[in-house]
Amino acid sequence: MSVLKLVILFTCLLHSLIEAEVVYNGSSTAKDDWWKHTTFYQIYPRSFKDSDGDGLGDLNGIISKLQYLVDAGITATWLSPISKSPGVDAGYDISDFRDIDEKFGTMSDFDRLIKAAHELGIKVILDFVPNHASYQHVWFQLSKNRTKGYEDYFIWKKGYNSTTPPNNWLSRFDYSAWEYVAERDEYYYHQFTTSQPDLNFRNPKVVQEMKLGNHDRDRVATRLGVENVDGYNMMVAFLPGTAVTYNGEEIGMENGEVTWEEGQDPGACNGLESDFKTKLPFHRVLMTEAYSNISVDMLHYGNGTVEGAHFPFNFFIITDTEYNSTANEIISVIKKWFQHMPSGHVSNWVLGNHDRDRVATRLGVENVDGYNMMVAFLPGIAVTYNGEEIGMENGEVTWEEGQDPGACNGLESDFKTVSRDFERTPFHWDSSVNAGFSTGNKTWLPVSSKYKTNNLELQSKDGVKSHFHVYQDLMKLRKEDTLIYGNLNVEVLATYVLAFTRELDGNDTYVFIFNKGNYSTSVSLSSFKSLSGNVTVVLSSTNSSRNKGDTLSTASIIMDAHEAIIAKSRSNVSVCWNIYTILLIMVLLFRIS
Ligand code: NOJ
Ligand code: MG
Repeated sequence: MSVLKLVILFTCLLHSLIEAEVVYNGSSTAKDDWWKHTTFYQIYPRSFKDSDGDGLGDLNGIISKLQYLVDAGITATWLSPISKSPGVDAGYDISDFRDIDEKFGTMSDFDRLIKAAHELGIKVILDFVPNHASYQHVWFQLSKNRTKGYEDYFIWKKGYNSTTPPNNWLSRFDYSAWEYVAERDEYYYHQFTTSQPDLNFRNPKVVQEMKLGNHDRDRVATRLGVENVDGYNMMVAFLPGTAVTYNGEEIGMENGEVTWEEGQDPGACNGLESDFKTKLPFHRVLMTEAYSNISVDMLHYGNGTVEGAHFPFNFFIITDTEYNSTANEIISVIKKWFQHMPSGHVSNWVLGNHDRDRVATRLGVENVDGYNMMVAFLPGIAVTYNGEEIGMENGEVTWEEGQDPGACNGLESDFKTVSRDFERTPFHWDSSVNAGFSTGNKTWLPVSSKYKTNNLELQSKDGVKSHFHVYQDLMKLRKEDTLIYGNLNVEVLATYVLAFTRELDGNDTYVFIFNKGNYSTSVSLSSFKSLSGNVTVVLSSTNSSRNKGDTLSTASIIMDAHEAIIAKSRSNVSVCWNIYTILLIMVLLFRIS
């Protein structure tokens, strides 16, 4: 046999050996409950739509835009807090868990919202924030003056000495986690701002107060429409009443029974999750928010003995990837979740939220479609923060205009890097004043000037290639059986080019290819054994020159910089064809020699 034949033979063998990695085997129960394959659309009520011209979004604003969710293809929305609050931490400082904040509307507006959403087939999830209350909450006022029964609703400790807090734990906003109250001559613990005292979950009464309590109309969450809402997102579910960090060497531990080790114990809130999960009527969903390491995250799924949530948010695309991440790094992040997720559970993919820079800003405007396609293509639940579907970038907010206490309580020089106001600026509806968000003279955060060139109205025009149109198509595509039940195969095609397939017996195979790099790159899909010959484009990113219906040869595709494509091919038949082709070539080669 000539050297050339040997090379051909070797290449064929190699080709048949390199196979994309199966990282998820698919699930026949992937849709046996409504939330398992849904896309949760996070509405940030302050910035979504203002109906009364006060510059702050509200419930009637949301009601007026429900049809938009339908048009986008959304069937489930999750609202950031609308409970009564002085608004120090944008509503995450709740002064009455049982009522709607009047800035957003009334309880009857809320009822109308739920009714209207349900009529349109949209599920509504509420935030539930058990970790802390507002310092204005009546419980804190009662606890502060040691009213009998309320003394231990919060975490009170004597100072280390007359001028020093109990220990040197820091709040998440970088100053002491302890605040002195003269009435008690004691400090209270707060993981976030001083306006957000942590509730003491070691007090059974507090646990009882915060339980769902189906049979007691006065219990916390019950009041906020448990009969009507479709689930809860339990925020800060990690460490109710415990420390997040400490400042070098620990001091003063002898004054407090909360130890650092205890501070790492997520068990403190499992009781609540369990309670919610078991008491929530059957079809309601419970998700949890906690930025933890992967092992701790997984505890929120529960285990054989402890009921957890239905799913903890997967923030690793946010925390572990960046603009320059390679295809390999992104794929590792995706694999990590599947490797750790206990069997029988559902994965989820979050690209952004009100605490993190906008996707367009963090990962590149040019990559917006690629990332939206990626999370929609992966198995399980996808999460969209309002505005990501039109590729909104971070807004412009000055130090004077800033609202986020996490930044405003710090140094002006840190504002740009620390503030979360940039990702919270109002939604860009159209090209009119205030981007169509509000008719007011002033909005709570400034509307980004970028709305003039990037808004929903512009992106919705017929025939325009836009992020929104890509998003709409994705929501339709997610209804395909292959994308619901199919397995997931992943492959690094080049340093910055990744590809996934979703495959399901007897159905079309879908392939997603994303070049997130700055150069066009030639790739081959030969490692996906279910693909061969040509595939047909079903969706392409705004910056792609490919159109629906174009055919691509799996042997060689030139992916432009930042281009993303979803294509499909007939499966099964092609798998066999591929193997037979290789065998045929080998037989022919041997016969010739
Ligand atoms: C979680 C929320 O996402 C964040 O915005 C808030 O600052 C903290 N909880 C504290 O309330
Ligand atoms: Mg308003």
